[in-house]
Amino acid sequence: MPLRLGDIAPDFTAESTAGKIEFHAYLGDSWGVLFSHPKDFTPVCTTELGAAAALKEAFDARDVKVLGLSVDSLDDHLAWSGDIGEVTGHPLNFPLIADPDRTVATAYDMIHPNADNTLTVRSVFVIAPDKKVKLTLTYPASTGRNFDEVLRVIDSLQRTSAHKVATPANWRPGQDVIIVPSMSDEEAGEHFESFKRVKPYLRTTKDPS
Ligand code: BEZ
Repeated sequence: MPLRLGDIAPDFTAESTAGKIEFHAYLGDSWGVLFSHPKDFTPVCTTELGAAAALKEAFDARDVKVLGLSVDSLDDHLAWSGDIGEVTGHPLNFPLIADPDRTVATAYDMIHPNADNTLTVRSVFVIAPDKKVKLTLTYPASTGRNFDEVLRVIDSLQRTSAHKVATPANWRPGQDVIIVPSMSDEEAGEHFESFKRVKPYLRTTKDPS
């Protein structure tokens, strides 16, 4: 059964490059990004882990803890991790979970047998402080992910969890947001300093953050 938005992210205990991780306890009250890559010592994965490491300050600023995972062994993770800094200029700065018995990969449905029978696909799960899954992404082994997009979605999720707003297509922080349709014009007038009524169902207001 695949994980769906709103489901509780399965808890687990696993070895990682940063020691033993008890997932829920490790996340605490922070947001989480758990992402799988297919295999250590492979080119696209090396670039991806460096790209995620490069965004550490941005993730920290949003109180997000990042964790990577593959079905490789801890020894392989430790041996490969030096290459990430060497190749990309951004040393690994988040835990890489070793899942050789596929416990976590199975719980998160990260192995898609019709794509590859043994390796994890490029899954991303964004998890809110209440441990609910807020975003799932699945990319094929051949396509490296855009971690700026992961950050952009987190910016949207953090706005929408704090305010009664949604964000439009291609939204970036600082741009106007959309007032949720369930809020009446009267409530919107009380809640927001001002808003624009483009259509009765499309009302925009300034980015509240
Ligand atoms: C890669 O990271 O380059 C890769 C890994 C597994 C399959 C294909 C590509």
